[in-house]
Amino acid sequence: MITIALAKGRLWEESLPLLEKVGAILGEGNAYLPSQSPNNTRALIIPANKAGVQFLILRSSDVPTFVRHGAAQIGFAGSDILMEQEAADIFQPYDLPIGHCRLSLAMPQNLADKWHNDFNNINNLRVATKYPLLAYKWFAEKRQNVQLIKLYGSMEIAPLVGVADAIVDLVSSGATLRENKLVEVATIAQINAKLIVGRSNLKTEQKILKPLLNAFAQIL
Ligand code: PRP
Repeated sequence: MITIALAKGRLWEESLPLLEKVGAILGEGNAYLPSQSPNNTRALIIPANKAGVQFLILRSSDVPTFVRHGAAQIGFAGSDILMEQEAADIFQPYDLPIGHCRLSLAMPQNLADKWHNDFNNINNLRVATKYPLLAYKWFAEKRQNVQLIKLYGSMEIAPLVGVADAIVDLVSSGATLRENKLVEVATIAQINAKLIVGRSNLKTEQKILKPLLNAFAQIL
């Protein structure tokens, strides 16, 4: 069985054309496409069109864990998650041309003006984020004293309701920031999805993985 760990949400949609191309390279048409969308089922394991191939539908932050534990031979994981989890033990052979966005610092306009004027003058900035490690490292490099507040989603609300002054979060189109009257003041990292492979699987499942990884190499 070939098991592929995928995140639901936006990355899911972007993953499909890649899986279609891989099937074409392997001469198997749409064999590697999921037989249904996670939007239409509550099942969390979805078979592919080809027997012997299946997908685990996961939260994006859990994809490295399932691959690390050998539950999936490969997965698509965001570089944001891999960096935040310091997942250096996971083999990350290819950057995928999907999941492009950036990790940014954003805040209301009046605070952004102060930041641009002199960020050293802002003390004890309260920053809400899903990425405490990446945020911590970035502010530490700037020698900026901040208070990090860990949230799990809907970050942009935090400055609007006084839970935080600013956020460190993913920005793609910028629409969520605009809708919530926040402005981006700095880019912390450029993000994209990566193909990941568990190191234990790499040794034990070479027969399955080699043709698949070769097919990915050809479409990138
Ligand atoms: C992500 C991110 C931002 C938004 C940015 O959230 O956390 O909120 O997308 O995209 P945009 O710049 O195109 O508006 P997501 O929709 O994945 O949900 P989440 O809040 O649960 O993380």
